[in-house]
Amino acid sequence: MPVITNINDLKRIHRRRVPKMFYDYAESGSWTEQTFRENTSDFDQIRLRQRVAVDMSGRSTATQMIGQDVAMPVALAPVGLTGMQHADGEMKAARAAEAFGVPFTLSTMSINSIEDVASATNKPFWFQLYTMRDQDYVSRLIERARAAKCSALVITLDLQILGQRHKDIKNGLSAPPKLTPSTIANLMTKWRWGIEMLQTKNRSFGNIVGHVDNISDAADLSSWTTEQFDPTLDWGKIAKIKEQWGGKVILKGILDAEDAKMALKVGADAIIVSNHGGRQLDGAISSIRALPAILDAVGDQIEVHMDSGIRSGQDVLKAMAMGAKGTYIGRAFIYGLGAMGQAGVTRALEVIHKEMDTTMALCGETKVTDLGRHNLLVPKGFEGDWQD
Ligand SMILES: Cc1cc2nc3c(=O)[nH]c(=O)nc-3n(C[C@H](O)[C@H](O)[C@H](O)COP(=O)(O)O)c2cc1C
Repeated sequence: MPVITNINDLKRIHRRRVPKMFYDYAESGSWTEQTFRENTSDFDQIRLRQRVAVDMSGRSTATQMIGQDVAMPVALAPVGLTGMQHADGEMKAARAAEAFGVPFTLSTMSINSIEDVASATNKPFWFQLYTMRDQDYVSRLIERARAAKCSALVITLDLQILGQRHKDIKNGLSAPPKLTPSTIANLMTKWRWGIEMLQTKNRSFGNIVGHVDNISDAADLSSWTTEQFDPTLDWGKIAKIKEQWGGKVILKGILDAEDAKMALKVGADAIIVSNHGGRQLDGAISSIRALPAILDAVGDQIEVHMDSGIRSGQDVLKAMAMGAKGTYIGRAFIYGLGAMGQAGVTRALEVIHKEMDTTMALCGETKVTDLGRHNLLVPKGFEGDWQD
């Protein structure tokens, strides 16, 4: 077993073990990938204030996200096709999150269904909703999430139309993979992945196949999804979904202070400052750069979370010190899952926790809830000095 000391170690193993089309699917941003790259490089611009001779015993990373206790402010983000990175990946990642004491968010576009994940866990998880044209289907999804006792609905707002990721088109991305000469050649080098995949029957979109009329195979499905995302989604529709759900609602994909104010008006419990990990609007600013203006606009009235670009516990700490009340990791846990299944997700969470805890100590802080801008050195003009 290789020694894993950081998230990049997991990424290297993920690349070796997972078929190319799924590694590429995770490791892509849209178009030029500028936003994808800046999500991580902008974190590097922020420096930490080292403080000494402060009693650093009795440290705690525990806090709450939307009123729920978390061992650290790091939830697993909704990631489509997680069950293609590793057999039954959603069930395994959800179990790892539950054992660690952090929330797991199941994507609408998952391989394991809502019911599969409910059967694999004991505590409530969160469900991420994509809104579709088929209102009945959306209503049924919401009812299924309720029946599974999901404790929050995360409504994603930044993917009514799909950002183009070149590699997915070139690789012919599908779930399960279509057998062409090049995919077969690649799959033959990924025997461990293949053996595990043969042991599960979950190899297609579990929340959709069998729940929508006339969908029985994957080819149908990909055209169905591109046609089905609802381009008319607006704040009025979001309010209606919120009403139907009746529980906690988190709005994901906010990058602009004006939209954050709308989210507040609609009565969301939290927002996620996110650009979908750089997979949607290429050329948008990084989430960590967008965060301060959004906090200034609504931070005292609504819980503000963030994701996109987090690869370490130091990144989590920077976001929290900036004023976020929680963060999410997408690729960081996917690398772990692809590398080593459930144990890999646990390892990713352990790595991030240790990095956060050690950094907190070296910054002279003992509680994650005490972090603030006093812990950071933020370059002048970090937020961007844009023309009106
Ligand atoms: C492979 C992949 C698939 C994703 N699928 C979804 C999805 O189905 N629903 C969703 O709301 N966000 C999805 N996202 C976005 C993540 O929830 C999250 O916003 C993003 O991964 C954060 O950036 P990071 O990967 O740099 O941590 C996906 C991200 C990746 C990398």
